[in-house]
Amino acid sequence: MPQTFKRTTVTSALPYANGPVHIGHLAGVYVPADIYSRYLRLKGRPVMFIGGSDEHGVPVTIRARKEGITVQEVVDRYHQLIKESFREFGISFDIYSRTTSETHHKLASDFFRKLYDEGKFVEQTSEQFYDEQTQRFLTDRNIRGECPRCHAPEAYGDQCEKCGATLSPEELINPYNAETGNPLVKKATKHWYLPLDQYQEWLEQWILKDHTEWRSNVYGQCKSWLDGGLKPRAVTRDLDWGIPVPVEGAEGKVLYVWFDAPIGYISNTKELCDNKPEVWGSWETWWKDPETRLVHFIGKDNIVFHCIVFPSMLKAHGEYILPDNVPSNEFLNLEGNKISTSKNYAVWLHEYLREMPGRQDELRYVLTANAPETKDNDFTWRDYQARCNNELVAVYGNFVNRALQLTQKYYEGRVPACGELTDFDRDTLAEFRDVKEKLESLLEGFKFREAQKEAMNLARIGNKYLADSEPWKVIKTDPERVKTIINISLQITANLAIAFEPFLPFSSKRLREMIAMTSFSWEQIGSMDLLAEGTQLPKPELLFTKVEDSDIEFQIKKLEDTIKANEAANYKAAPVKPTVSFEEFEKMDIRVGLVKACEKVKKSKKLLKFTIDDGSGKDRTILSGIAQWYEPEQLVGKRVLFIANFAPRTMMGETSEGMILSAVNYNGDLSVTTTLDDVKGGSQVG
Ligand code: MF3
Ligand code: ZN
Repeated sequence: MPQTFKRTTVTSALPYANGPVHIGHLAGVYVPADIYSRYLRLKGRPVMFIGGSDEHGVPVTIRARKEGITVQEVVDRYHQLIKESFREFGISFDIYSRTTSETHHKLASDFFRKLYDEGKFVEQTSEQFYDEQTQRFLTDRNIRGECPRCHAPEAYGDQCEKCGATLSPEELINPYNAETGNPLVKKATKHWYLPLDQYQEWLEQWILKDHTEWRSNVYGQCKSWLDGGLKPRAVTRDLDWGIPVPVEGAEGKVLYVWFDAPIGYISNTKELCDNKPEVWGSWETWWKDPETRLVHFIGKDNIVFHCIVFPSMLKAHGEYILPDNVPSNEFLNLEGNKISTSKNYAVWLHEYLREMPGRQDELRYVLTANAPETKDNDFTWRDYQARCNNELVAVYGNFVNRALQLTQKYYEGRVPACGELTDFDRDTLAEFRDVKEKLESLLEGFKFREAQKEAMNLARIGNKYLADSEPWKVIKTDPERVKTIINISLQITANLAIAFEPFLPFSSKRLREMIAMTSFSWEQIGSMDLLAEGTQLPKPELLFTKVEDSDIEFQIKKLEDTIKANEAANYKAAPVKPTVSFEEFEKMDIRVGLVKACEKVKKSKKLLKFTIDDGSGKDRTILSGIAQWYEPEQLVGKRVLFIANFAPRTMMGETSEGMILSAVNYNGDLSVTTTLDDVKGGSQVG
């Protein structure tokens, strides 16, 4: 980082207020942005950390219609929920506001108007799909129709989920309104476009030549957009939710959500500065002074907007600084599946906070340890448990606990004096010495995973130091020596409380209380004089506790239940087979059989062997492939339906005289059919 920067403006993508936030959002954006902001603050560098809800766009309007409430109610609900859960999770925003604020409406509107007045937009009229009944133009996602490739009946205007084809609404056969089902017509409408093609050359220089240091995933995506050639992008939409286009003759049109939302970063800065000018000064300093460094934390689906569209807007405006870096993460998956808000498949932050109370740092730790910094990653609850128990509890917590317990035991909780150092002590301290620099270069390079590993390494060094120096043995032969060992262990503990502060703020705070550390700063890392001799420490508590199997199993079951519920909801009965006559049906001899005995067929995982009373006075043997769903005992004494005139078949050395009828559930599970009443074996079904 060049020394010329005086302050840093840190932004984190404004989440859509159409649902709660989940661990994918946290791992991708908010945890890294928080670590970075906390680090800069701890280092004494001026930083403003900006967040807020993105309350415009189509998703919130869809949610409102689905739930039968107003859009305002949707955004009010989720804005509050998101804001509150971020706060509880320790995301240390300096402001968390919203894009429905008055400040934002005015700023975004003025931004548009300035570009409009200066002729920075291109006006264009085009034919768009229109629903005459609801008098609405439709966005791509709201248009459905038959897929031109695979002929699936419900492809979206931008994509067919069946065959994966990328589509445009024009290609759909018989397009209709996804919500009302109404057929669509084409109607002319005027929009304003940002001519990105005019910024192409400038962007190539600014990104591809001047920012080769950007993460390779970000740089690579920008390069492929630029190589493909940029085209003008519409910055207005025909919608009734959003910021009205401040131009005469633009009634019924609003700013495109991706035009107004990033301006929200600026509006939120303004709101904060206007409220507390004595702390933050003028908002313009944070956005217009070339000595301010702007950093955007985002997820990978936001790269084009933050690296190409928003910078072009800022450039067109002319007064603003441009982002210095855009550390975007890849995606986090969950137990091997894609996280999905619409499918309710996620670990929701507000639910985690309720179900795992007091475990904010555990989740922060795991999300950083597993952060999708260079590639997509998978979150699993087993991994969560293993990392909590084997790393936080067994390494960090264990070391701190031993150091504090020994201090209580030998010195009634008072920090003992450090005597003369041995070679072993000096070796340990040497291992410590370069930790601060390593941490700094990793944090400033946005390598949070590695940085947290480095902090954990401090705890490992401490653990090893205590284990190898064995104060509990030495106390019997050389009590003076033990004072030094404990003093050093406590100094390492104090270092941990600082080094982990950006990552694990809750436990760091508790740890500082346990070692009576009142003031601290980043610069102290590496020091061995953090705790003065004679300082009285309070009674220690455990820093971390084990995550139990039952907690994990509860969470895993919850996700499995969601998958099942989705499968059930998506189930469509198979089409009905060609018509048969009564005579054809009558050829089939379906009967009730009484199960006298049932057992597994040796060497077969699938087959059960039934002994059936079919009313003939002779036992009948039938094999059925349902071993996966039933224990044989469950079926004895039950009535089942079977086909009596099925040609005998031999399987696994056994002959089956008929076929037992089972229903096939939506997920492929089999369920044996029976009669409602007690019917005699051999009764015919028809
Ligand atoms: N709401 C968008 C999303 O969740 C992000 C908006 S970021 C901003 O993908 F820059 F527009 F604010
Ligand atoms: Zn298709």
